[in-house]
Amino acid sequence: MIVRTFEVGSDQNNTYLLACEKTRIGAIVDPYLEVPGILQAARDEKIRIEYVLLTHTHRDHCLGVPEVVMATGATVYVHEKEAERVPGEGKLLTLKQGSRVQVGEIILEVFHTPGHTPGGVTYYQPDSAGAITGDVLFVGYCGRADLPGSDPRALWRSLQALAKLPDHTVIYPGHNYGKTPGSTVGYEKSFNPYYQCRTEEEFVQLRLYGKVE
Ligand SMILES: [Fe+2]
Repeated sequence: MIVRTFEVGSDQNNTYLLACEKTRIGAIVDPYLEVPGILQAARDEKIRIEYVLLTHTHRDHCLGVPEVVMATGATVYVHEKEAERVPGEGKLLTLKQGSRVQVGEIILEVFHTPGHTPGGVTYYQPDSAGAITGDVLFVGYCGRADLPGSDPRALWRSLQALAKLPDHTVIYPGHNYGKTPGSTVGYEKSFNPYYQCRTEEEFVQLRLYGKVE
């Protein structure tokens, strides 16, 4: 699997270009800004963009959808709970827990990981052990749970679900907030402060108020 990372905007957003090495069919994950440059990078690698994959529909993860769809005719994947929030008129396919997305010969497994938003998803590729975690899990940090539609308890459960992935799974977060651009599930379980909480209650206190009583 080819994975290219494009850090865009003032809040270190990550847009990813994913592609199947063999078929050169590709997907853009969370298009926001600088879409022409990302499409050019795909063309330079002879990758044909057929899909847009959204981790969630905050503006800074989907503003670029119409531009990608206009240029490529790509089909957009989004969780069913956030389908109405996708900008533009592209063809939409909705996801839920356990859905599979095929990009060329690559199969991505979909985990519904709500908490930051109701329809947040993580795309997991088992053969290359990679997980695109959106704004659920960052390097050394996790997503906000105080926004409209957020639910800190759901976010705790989503993080616990991701902790069950193999330790060597590489995470590709929605923002580059960490000391390194990427990390692994095992590293985060050991060092991410939100994974050091022993209970849901402790997590909620830390996430919402920045402290544990
Ligand atoms: Fe977000």
